Amino acid sequence: MKERKNVYKLSAGDETLSWYAKAVIEMKKRPTKDPRSWNYQAAMHNIDKTSPFWQGAGPFVNNTEAREFWDQCQHNTWFFLPWHRMYLSWFEEIVAKTIVDLGGPSDWALPFWDYSDTSNPHALTIPSAFTDPGNDTNGLWITGRRRHTLRKLDVSLKAALRATSFSGSGVTALPGFGGGETSFSNHGSQTGQLEAQPHGTVHNTINGAMGNPYTAALDPVFWLHHANIDRLWQVWLNLGHRINPVKSSWLDFKFEFHDVDGHKVQMKCSEVVDTRNVLSGYTYQDVPQAAPIPKHEFEVLKTSDFSMPLEIVAATNKKVNLSSAKTVVHLKLDPPPKKKASLAFMEKAPDKPQSTILHFENVTGKGVPPTQDVYLNVPDDEGNKESFYAGSISLFGLEASSTPGLHHSGSGQHYALDVTELMNKLRTLPNWNEKQLDVSIEPAWEMDNDASVKIGRISLYTE
Ligand code: C2O
Repeated sequence: MKERKNVYKLSAGDETLSWYAKAVIEMKKRPTKDPRSWNYQAAMHNIDKTSPFWQGAGPFVNNTEAREFWDQCQHNTWFFLPWHRMYLSWFEEIVAKTIVDLGGPSDWALPFWDYSDTSNPHALTIPSAFTDPGNDTNGLWITGRRRHTLRKLDVSLKAALRATSFSGSGVTALPGFGGGETSFSNHGSQTGQLEAQPHGTVHNTINGAMGNPYTAALDPVFWLHHANIDRLWQVWLNLGHRINPVKSSWLDFKFEFHDVDGHKVQMKCSEVVDTRNVLSGYTYQDVPQAAPIPKHEFEVLKTSDFSMPLEIVAATNKKVNLSSAKTVVHLKLDPPPKKKASLAFMEKAPDKPQSTILHFENVTGKGVPPTQDVYLNVPDDEGNKESFYAGSISLFGLEASSTPGLHHSGSGQHYALDVTELMNKLRTLPNWNEKQLDVSIEPAWEMDNDASVKIGRISLYTE
């Protein structure tokens, strides 16, 4: 059993990262057609041969092989977590074997980067081994990262850990932790809470190769980021009253990878629900295994579909184009006729926990737009702005999910922000206006000239 360790808790003199760096350099020497090469592994996530990051990477595999093994990353779908877990595990085996072949230790495991660890003053910064020296002699370095330090907002786990169901389904249900239920689809449209933040926000802030799924896995830090995302899946389960999908359309779904000898292998989601059973098994430092859920509780969780109908209380009627400046959308809160639910109704039952979800539907666009931070009813003087923060929309992979293709519809992404707590607070403030909610959408940095974002509809739903 391997232990994946916290990269910031490796002891002085620990060689986990120096061996990783050597293995990366070795894997980069292998031709792209070799499944054990750095490029092949990254292409399995996504490849864009026109990107500068892929220049000089050819010759490439033939189209049949590319269709089978490349561009397989699962995003905005309930396969996000299991697919990336499989992907990491096979990658880890290949790196570990490379290290052994180079004369290194036999127990190498992928470390994780816990950027949300508030007890670590360095947590938000990429571990220095990845940035220093900043040149090709360092296997962990890559050109083009735009930022080495994440923003505090990027790494908030609040929304992700609050989700109780694994899969939300569109606007009719509470948003899920792990992404919307889909049939096979590389880029579905319902982004899970964990995938949205911190997963997408971290990708975006580092940017460069990491900012785009077509190049992300070329950055060695990608793998430590994903080890952390994978760890958070376990952390979420450990909170209790939470289970993985039980449908066979998830459990029996298979994906293809290569083993350490470059042979094709298949893996089902059901094989990766417990990290101790994935290949030779692994655990995460400081993360206990979830206590088994009592049978009767499991039965309840299994059958409770989390799709309690939510009702719409407000929506925009035009598309919203984002720019480099902040965009403020005034949501009229009058409920449409025939709908019972309204915020006034909410006020009458203050004790009942009422969920309120802010949706960003059919978000489409081009290029790599900035992360958008969303605030509600920010006072004009912007004082104490943080307490009006609703969440961030990373837009990671936006172009891929906006482009109709083999495995995706092109209808864009769908983000759901759980604003229950914030709305409860806003309603108690003196300036509360029950007819209007101001949604302010603020880019975290300037929009590149070749980037654009269009939000199909912003809507507010409540129980
Ligand atoms: Cu498949 Cu973080 O990306």
